[in-house]
Amino acid sequence: MPVDASTALEEWVRPVEDWPVPGVTFRDLTPLFARPEPFAAVIDALVDIARSAGPVDRVLGVEARGFIVGAPVALELGVGFVPVRKAGKLPHTTLSTSYALEYGEATIEMHADAVAPGDRVLVVDDVLATGGTLAATADLVREAGGEVVADLVIIELPALGGRAVVGDVPVHSLTTY
Ligand code: PRP
Repeated sequence: MPVDASTALEEWVRPVEDWPVPGVTFRDLTPLFARPEPFAAVIDALVDIARSAGPVDRVLGVEARGFIVGAPVALELGVGFVPVRKAGKLPHTTLSTSYALEYGEATIEMHADAVAPGDRVLVVDDVLATGGTLAATADLVREAGGEVVADLVIIELPALGGRAVVGDVPVHSLTTY
């Protein structure tokens, strides 16, 4: 029997206590990614949501786990995939933005020609936590002249308030912890 996304998530998201720091329970998606049927069920659920958001020109995935999720979504939708990378990894001309982390700062980059003015963009990641990553990604898309039509994530951690940080972009998550 084919597995559905909620069963896949219940069975194959592994809680890891006290990682990366004491008191935090990390939601590990690697057991799910390692199993083709649960992985496909989750991708299919994201693609269904993406289709309901209307036509898109590009799917963006955020390094590194967003690549694992975003690329198959892009292929299913039949549109191109754009990697948003940590600073210093992309070879051509980039747009760049920095955002605050709990301790310090992160910088992410996108090729300047990866999103064209007027492009409708879907951003895909594995987890929405504080929202800093998705908000910064939206800044890159806007700087390029595109529009983020929706953010799709597998897991949302609502206690961290990410939706408020993301702002006006609709956020869709498959499960919350
Ligand atoms: C994680 C996760 C998201 C981001 C979410 O990535 O994959 O991209 O954090 O957190 P936020 O909502 O608080 O911004 P991480 O930076 O750990 O990188 P990785 O995917 O390379 O492990």
